[in-house]
Amino acid sequence: MTVQDAPTPARSLEARYYTDPAIFANERQGLLARTWQFAGHESQVRGAGDYFSFDLAGESLFCIRGRDDVLRTFYNVCQHRAHQLVSGAGTTRVVVCPYHAWTYEMTGELRAGPNIKSVPGFDRSEISLTPVRTENMHGFIFVNLDEDAAPMEEWYPGVRAELGDYVPDIDALEPLEWVEIPEQCNWKVSIENYSECYHCSLNHPTFATGVIKPETYDIQPSERGHVLRHTTQCQSLDAMTYDIDLSKPHAGEYRSLFLWPMFSFQIYPGNLLNTYHWRAHDVDQCTVWRGWFTPRGEDSDVIRRLAIQDRATTVEEDIHLVESVYRGLQSRGYKPGPLVLDPACGLNSEHSVYALQQWMREAVDDRDLNSS
Ligand code: FES
Ligand SMILES: [Fe+2]
Repeated sequence: MTVQDAPTPARSLEARYYTDPAIFANERQGLLARTWQFAGHESQVRGAGDYFSFDLAGESLFCIRGRDDVLRTFYNVCQHRAHQLVSGAGTTRVVVCPYHAWTYEMTGELRAGPNIKSVPGFDRSEISLTPVRTENMHGFIFVNLDEDAAPMEEWYPGVRAELGDYVPDIDALEPLEWVEIPEQCNWKVSIENYSECYHCSLNHPTFATGVIKPETYDIQPSERGHVLRHTTQCQSLDAMTYDIDLSKPHAGEYRSLFLWPMFSFQIYPGNLLNTYHWRAHDVDQCTVWRGWFTPRGEDSDVIRRLAIQDRATTVEEDIHLVESVYRGLQSRGYKPGPLVLDPACGLNSEHSVYALQQWMREAVDDRDLNSS
């Protein structure tokens, strides 16, 4: 899937992919339930029995660390008569259902229940919580509702190693702040906007005058897997608002690794990591979170200032763009326009949007074929 293979002109995705509730329902059952999604950070579950619950693709799930130090994720539903097991976050010795007090081990096995022994033939060992595939990438916990899903290394080849190179202290990082940004648009509008910079010169004044060299900015899909990699050269780093130790490998570079469909690691000069992750709530509503990290979560004026500046500039500017696009997609006056695919790629090309839209189409259309 390269720019060279694209039909001419390549049209943007039809509006119904963003606005049709039936397509969103299809995505919930298919795409969102078969891809790796961010659950939370390991620092939320450091000790045995620590857990947190979260929602994904219409499901409530919870992640818990066992006495064997293994992180597991389960559907948040009791195997008796379906009461939800936990809410929020906390620490527990066993998982006790609030309805009739059936009790589960942190490995998911049923341990006990009032009067269950009186039931002839009741076999406790046949009952356990339903597990969800879980992977830990440098402390970032991802889950996949598809039990047959390929591992993250296949979806995102080389990303784990690349992160280790670009953010040498990544395993010590903990979140300092999560900035929550509700957006009134379909999640794919927000993802596409994040994944092209054709709009940047006009809409992000700090972009053209900041640290990156716009003429070198590029976003490329990886040869294998489902990664969009943003790279750029930087202007003089003397203009940065914080000190950078250029003796560290990659300290003078910027890059971003977007993991289809809803997560991105972004690395600023100075090996500073921040993240984006998205959740789709409905066909016309999503939330983006910006994550800001420091070693052990220690307070840092530098990082807090970056988070505030980012929220006030890039984030604020993008909210208006994506919400306007979403209103436009509902207009009878819109027909999908041609994407600007420059064979040389670069800042003013939408080849990254083309790659994304291919993934979007495949996810929805393959499922239509499968279910027909
Ligand atoms: S529903 Fe959980 S114990 Fe009855
Ligand atoms: Fe933007």
